[in-house]
Parts: sequence; C-alpha cells; structure tokens
Amino acid sequence: MIVCVCKSVSDRQIKACIDAGATTMEDLQIDLGVALCCGKCGPYVQEMVTGATPCCGRSCGGCCQSAHGETTEVEVVTVRQELALAA
Ligand code: FES
Repeated sequence: MIVCVCKSVSDRQIKACIDAGATTMEDLQIDLGVALCCGKCGPYVQEMVTGATPCCGRSCGGCCQSAHGETTEVEVVTVRQELALAA
C-alpha cells in the first residue's frame, strides 16, 4: 500500500527502512523523503515508527504492538480518506 502519495513510498519500504535501523520520523524523512511534501502521511508514518519501538523500553513480547494495533487501523482509514479527498 502506498503511504506517501507525494513520494510514492509504500508501507513495505517504510517497514524495510525501520528494519534496517531507522528509529525516528527524521530518519524516514532523510531516507525516503516521506512527510516532506503535503505531510498527510506524517501521522501514519509516525505510528509505524512508534509501533516499531517498544514503549516500555525493553523487549516486551508484543504488548506495545497490540496497544498500537487499533490506532494504526484508524489512522490508515483516516489517511486514506484524506488522500481520497485531496485527489
Ligand atoms: S503524502 Fe507524504 S508528503 Fe504528501
């Protein structure tokens, strides 16, 4: 799925960048150019970065991921709606 329409960046590219060591929105902006144009992908990209970083500060076995799961779905719908309106 394309997350950043302005730069044609997919969720897979963002995940690959996070898996390769990106830990902040700034890392993804530098590496992929996301959220630097209209900025509408910013909340979703931020959620991807936050969801990949354990909020409890240790290997929690997924408690952080499940806590962010519902938010991610809501934000995906919100970003899609915003992008559809912008098109
Ligand atoms: S959709 Fe990512 S900057 Fe516009």
